[in-house]
Amino acid sequence: MPESRITSNKKEKDAPRLKKVEVDAEASLTYSDKTLEHMLTPSHLGMLPAPDGQARFTGPCGDTMEVFLKIDDGVIRQAFFLADGCQHTIACGDAICDLAEMKTVKEAFQINAEKLFDYLEGLPQDHVHCASLAANTMRTALLEYLEKRDESWKKAYRK
Ligand code: FES
Repeated sequence: MPESRITSNKKEKDAPRLKKVEVDAEASLTYSDKTLEHMLTPSHLGMLPAPDGQARFTGPCGDTMEVFLKIDDGVIRQAFFLADGCQHTIACGDAICDLAEMKTVKEAFQINAEKLFDYLEGLPQDHVHCASLAANTMRTALLEYLEKRDESWKKAYRK
């Protein structure tokens, strides 16, 4: 089969650590439309300055994700992510940020890997753990927010 590649450059300037998203034609036939949409046109890719919640998490496979949250009045107003990993990691990071935005912190804690998997209409067996990486990173960012919520002075010292 001739090699055909689709490359997404969206927000690439904002996310220097992000690998290019490349999907070969054969693989694109096996992904759901929802997964492809998040994989190829991520709208939450990038960083947020002075986030209210932030976490960086590396999964057992070595892929890393970082999540940045702007939270106001207990509601996630903005969610962004960076990833150094496979194309499914990009899809999962973008999808979980999409799902978390405009949710309360309590509601966002309910978004686990299984819900993310269902929202993406499935993932290949060898990439199911990418949903866990995204869910764990989001959860850790939410916990970090709660941890420093009453210690707002710490925010001034964040990079
Ligand atoms: Fe490990 Fe995607 S291959 S998180």
